Amino acid sequence: MSYYERHIFFCLNQRDNGEACCADHHAQEAFDHCKRRVKAEGLAGPGKVRVNKAGCLDRCAGGPVAVVYPEAVWYTYVDTHDIDEIVDSHLKNGQVVERLLTPPHLGR
Ligand code: FES
Repeated sequence: MSYYERHIFFCLNQRDNGEACCADHHAQEAFDHCKRRVKAEGLAGPGKVRVNKAGCLDRCAGGPVAVVYPEAVWYTYVDTHDIDEIVDSHLKNGQVVERLLTPPHLGR
């Protein structure tokens, strides 16, 4: 059994050279919102859910992105309503949010 049941990583990468990056699409706000929601729902901790920051996940063209393990499901979100759906559906109940999946061909 893994230490966490689910682990979500948010790319918070900020680029200063004008190239696209997740930080330009409110990634920090989404991360903070997810952290708050997971805690408020009592989902945080060993055997449950962990929300972590990440650097560039190299799928910038699909950004802003977050990835959930162990399922390795990639999400492209727009706003905090999308984050709520990921928390309520996937992190809480294991149901993948199909409408937010990052298109498989999108990489860097
Ligand atoms: S900047 Fe977010 S995946 Fe690269």
